[in-house]
Amino acid sequence: MGMAWPASLAGILKAYPEMLLATACFILFRRLSRNRRLPVCWPVVGMLPYVVTHVHHLHDWTADVLRESRYSFRFLGPWFADKEVLLTCDPANVNHIFNVNFSNYPKGGDFADIFDVLGNGIFNADAESWRSQRRMAHALVSHARFRVFLARASRDKVRRSLVPLLRLAAERGEVLDLQEVFTRFSFDSSCTLIFGADPGSLSPDFPSSPFAHAIDVAEKVIFIRHVMPKTWWKALRWLKLGHERRFAEAWETIDRCVAKYISQRRELQRSGPTAQMTSAPKGVEGEEGEGLDMLTSYLQQQAGTGTSDVEFDRFLRDTALNLMIAGRDTTSAGLSWFFWLLSTNPEVEAKILEELRDQLPAEYHAGTGGDGLAVFDPVELSKMAYLHAALCEALRLYPPVPFEHKAPLKPEVLPSGAKVYERTRVVVSIYAMGRMEGIWGKDCKEFRPERWISETGKVKHEPSYKFLSFNAGPRTCLGKEIAFTQMKAAAAAIIYNFKVEVVRAHVVAPKLSIILHMENGLKVTVTRRHK
Ligand code: HEM
Ligand SMILES: *[C@@H]1O[C@H](CO)[C@@H](O)[C@H](O)[C@H]1NC(C)=O
Repeated sequence: MGMAWPASLAGILKAYPEMLLATACFILFRRLSRNRRLPVCWPVVGMLPYVVTHVHHLHDWTADVLRESRYSFRFLGPWFADKEVLLTCDPANVNHIFNVNFSNYPKGGDFADIFDVLGNGIFNADAESWRSQRRMAHALVSHARFRVFLARASRDKVRRSLVPLLRLAAERGEVLDLQEVFTRFSFDSSCTLIFGADPGSLSPDFPSSPFAHAIDVAEKVIFIRHVMPKTWWKALRWLKLGHERRFAEAWETIDRCVAKYISQRRELQRSGPTAQMTSAPKGVEGEEGEGLDMLTSYLQQQAGTGTSDVEFDRFLRDTALNLMIAGRDTTSAGLSWFFWLLSTNPEVEAKILEELRDQLPAEYHAGTGGDGLAVFDPVELSKMAYLHAALCEALRLYPPVPFEHKAPLKPEVLPSGAKVYERTRVVVSIYAMGRMEGIWGKDCKEFRPERWISETGKVKHEPSYKFLSFNAGPRTCLGKEIAFTQMKAAAAAIIYNFKVEVVRAHVVAPKLSIILHMENGLKVTVTRRHK
């Protein structure tokens, strides 16, 4: 190219920051590839250069790259033989991919490969299989009996497990890992909603649960598969070596645990319709009307389908596991970051406390949970605009699912002008979206629930292609209401009854995972607000 070389190169690099970054990446890659321990071929979502060099601030680095490149960045270079990655956080692209041209962006085969343990469940499914599963799951989560069950189970879990646990920690003055508490809280809550049985992992001695542990292992390995070349992890899977061996073991544990829940429920059903109707799940017995958990609901529907038990059990296993993965760590990560943000923004905590005190019926102030500790009703909590706004704000800054990936079927040009091909993997950084001034304004990095409150004091709606934490379009999260119900029940009871203080010098940082956990947990001490 016969240009005045140095001047035009500087000009090009200035005009196209993405080229500058691509060049930087290229140089980086060349240096890294000399290190024999690193894979030479690129992974499905091409995150390896980030992971290796920016391991301590992966998400922030992604946000920086996207800010510099005006919201879309393509990893170009000779090293992408058959796949390339388009990283984006542009709301116009997001709206196009998740809404306008949804049918051109299935999850694709790579996704199902990486998440193979989820079987044919809703997360892995595309097209007709996805549609019918979505219809069924949607019918369940919007069923009146399921809603009643959810409200009651959330309140009871807070009253019987969460509040007593914190009271004990306050009495003993011990340090508590809130993230661990929330993970156990949402594990028990998810099991209750899905299987109709509470495994009781939130009791004060923190009993170990093989099922919960197996899910942890599976999530970890799924992340490793994202950053390792496909041929490598597939070879390891085939050989059952290293982390893939642990994965296979976790898979077996998961199958065993889910199968046990299913056979128990079938047993109950066989012992007659009356037994089934009155089989109030452990931990939520008594009170207004019987609950409806997922297993009970789906088993009732089996009769009409003429499917064999064996076949239907496989379907139940996939459904149950998918819902478990969908709900457990997302909700607990959301709660953990929320409490960390409160600890650094005491004025927000004060406002939530004020809202709880001002707007709740008098009986709560007397303490309905015994010991002068109050537990709130989800219906009352659903009216609290500021609490809702504060949770949205936490999920905006720390989306529990930080990335999404999609595989276009046909080439086309995105609204940003970026072209995608069949070989392109589109990676959307939800984390970065919350940190762009062009999307959320100059104060985008601040934790400011007020941005969610309208002039009339109601919660402001933000389009999902801007607030992508629950996904957008036809595949929007089906558990949004469930998550808010559980998060509010836990958050309100903790904030109202206890003062939470993060242990001094505790380092909070995101962990590398498919879920935005905290690397070192959230170490806190709690004290009673009033006795
Ligand atoms: C704060 C908590 C939660 C967050 C941030 C969240 C976020 C998300 C996101 C980002 C997706 C899209 C994932 C993808 O397509 O790869 C999703 C899908 C889904 N979520 Fe949630 N979720 C949460 C809680 C829950 C809960 C409690 C449930 C209930 C069981 C649930 C059920 C689902 C289901 C079934 C899907 C699949 C929808 C589909 O593919 O059509 N989620 N969620
Ligand atoms: C959707 O994608 C297809 C390629 O599959 C393309 O031909 C079409 O123009 C796109 N539609 C819109 C509305 O952008």
